[in-house]
Amino acid sequence: MTKLVDLHCHILPYVDDGALRTEESEQLLDMLYLQGVRVICATPHLREKMFETPDEEIRAQFDELQAYAARRSYAVRLFLSREYHCDRLTRERMEQGSLLRMGAGNTVLLEFSQRHDYDYILSWIDDARTRGYQPLVAHVERYPALEGDLDKVSALIQKGAKLQMNAGSILGHEGLRQAKWSRRLLKESMIHVVASDCHDPVDRPPELDACQRYLRKKIGDACADALMRDNPMRILSTIDKEIIPHADNQVEAREEAL
Ligand SMILES: [Fe+2]
Repeated sequence: MTKLVDLHCHILPYVDDGALRTEESEQLLDMLYLQGVRVICATPHLREKMFETPDEEIRAQFDELQAYAARRSYAVRLFLSREYHCDRLTRERMEQGSLLRMGAGNTVLLEFSQRHDYDYILSWIDDARTRGYQPLVAHVERYPALEGDLDKVSALIQKGAKLQMNAGSILGHEGLRQAKWSRRLLKESMIHVVASDCHDPVDRPPELDACQRYLRKKIGDACADALMRDNPMRILSTIDKEIIPHADNQVEAREEAL
């Protein structure tokens, strides 16, 4: 089984709207492991007035999950970062330089809201870069400010952003419209990372194995591996190595299939 990496998930319990209890968190880890995921970055929300759990508390839950993985003898590597909503609280931490980066690199996962406009998104990409962070935009397919506009998405990449897409969007679990937009972004090679964004075992479960099968069929093994393994691994280890949009000549050849 090819190793999968999940860079965006709400697997830690009691810290946001992800896993509710320890058992749910452990069940999510079991599910990810069964799907072939061997590297996981936990990304609890940080969002003003909604999810303000301090880093120390999420670290304590992270340690518990590590201990569970060890008890199960899982050959899995766990990392801790956060999904940062772009608001006043995140700005403060960004200015302090205290955002939790993914792995050994400088990447931070940035989330926008449905009401944020394009200029706001661009300005955050600029600010994050200026302060030495590599921005990875969470579920880029979801934002009304970008939907249907490839030029705007392309401009984000030009500005230095990396773009993450949710497996569920590709598989059509967020509706047909989002599936079509997601597949178009994939076809245009504008996505760098596919992740689960799983929240719980039932309503928002991880579906990386199904997504991997879908991508292998539609865009080929090399592109699927880039999105679900190689690029995420580069992000965890360093920002200096090139992260390739999944572009590959196979994509054009298989455009029709998507
Ligand atoms: Fe998320």
